[in-house]
Amino acid sequence: NVNLTSSLCVVPTRPLARNQYERMGSDVTMQCGSLDNDASVSWKVNGTDVKAQHHLEGPRLILTQVDLGHNGLYSCFQNPNGERRDTINLRIGISPREPIVSCRSNTYPKGFYCSWHQQHSTYIPTTFEVDVQHNQRSLEVLKDSIHKNRCHVRFPEVFSIFPYKVNVTAISALGKASSTISFEESSIVKPDPPERVTATPIRYNARRLEVSWQSPATWPDIDNFPLKYFLRYRPLIKEQWQHVELSESTSHTITDAYAGKEYIIQVAAKDTEIGTWSDWSVAVHATPWIEEPVQTTSTTDVEYLTQTKTSPIPSSNAPHKAEPPVGRAAKLLSFFSPLLLVMLLLIM
Ligand SMILES: *[C@@H]1O[C@H](CO)[C@@H](O)[C@H](O)[C@H]1NC(C)=O
Ligand SMILES: *[C@@H]1O[C@H](CO)[C@@H](O)[C@H](O)[C@H]1NC(C)=O
Repeated sequence: NVNLTSSLCVVPTRPLARNQYERMGSDVTMQCGSLDNDASVSWKVNGTDVKAQHHLEGPRLILTQVDLGHNGLYSCFQNPNGERRDTINLRIGISPREPIVSCRSNTYPKGFYCSWHQQHSTYIPTTFEVDVQHNQRSLEVLKDSIHKNRCHVRFPEVFSIFPYKVNVTAISALGKASSTISFEESSIVKPDPPERVTATPIRYNARRLEVSWQSPATWPDIDNFPLKYFLRYRPLIKEQWQHVELSESTSHTITDAYAGKEYIIQVAAKDTEIGTWSDWSVAVHATPWIEEPVQTTSTTDVEYLTQTKTSPIPSSNAPHKAEPPVGRAAKLLSFFSPLLLVMLLLIM
């Protein structure tokens, strides 16, 4: 037998430990392999003597009222020649509790996802089973590829009157516990926040800000399932938000901004008919247009065509960057203007 031969040749450098899971606070008995009751053994944990309170009963080590400090690799050695007989990886934990489950559809009407978490750490590996029922049938559940405690479900139909029932069971070596939640399709609809929110000042208007955004990319069918929006804005120096609700439009002009004040602006989205508001979008900052002192240059041909603005910040040694391109444009214009005049005359 080839397999047997090769496995006999394997000399393990570390003993293969078996896991033993035990409840916190309990008394734990570890059995050294399958040795008889009259066998005499010594125990070590992590390679040193067992210091925690314990007693020995033949091939058994008994620890009282274990806690996380008892975790470790326990090895037993048969007396008198000290041959290792067993290695146990003792892992202390607690039984799973009912997980906390919530479901949400940010991709309505495609589907929804459910996520869950434990109320407390159980300290030992715990897996979850998810069962989704709708109209007396089990729906397919897909694990999320990134989020560990999340799964996805497709809506089998839209505008369903039947509730969905989601049962999540936490399972570990120390037990299992289930939570079931039930909901209607319409109650879990919550889009992602609007995206690419921008706020720009409007030239020559010290009290306006033009805000625009895009619907969340995750929302699959904006034409048939339109979103409405909620805008909030405030100057940084004030606590109080101002709100505007907008139906379907993805832009809004703030007309009552305080001149010269920096604003913070956010947008939320909601299906026009069902569900709840999204979280707020990432905050954007903007300040309305500020009138700058106007100065005209006197020696160039730019004079009669444009007014060159200078920075309000005095910058004596900074080069006048704006002038050459403006001058070039002006020259071009003055070159073409007689031509334009001729053309106009011809048209008339
Ligand atoms: C054994 O080692 C593990 C890992 O280093 C440690 O967490 C544990 O507390 C140790 N156990 C004991 C009883 O010293
Ligand atoms: C939830 O699922 C678990 C495991 O499949 C099962 O034991 C339990 O009875 C279910 N609970 C409900 C309320 O359906």
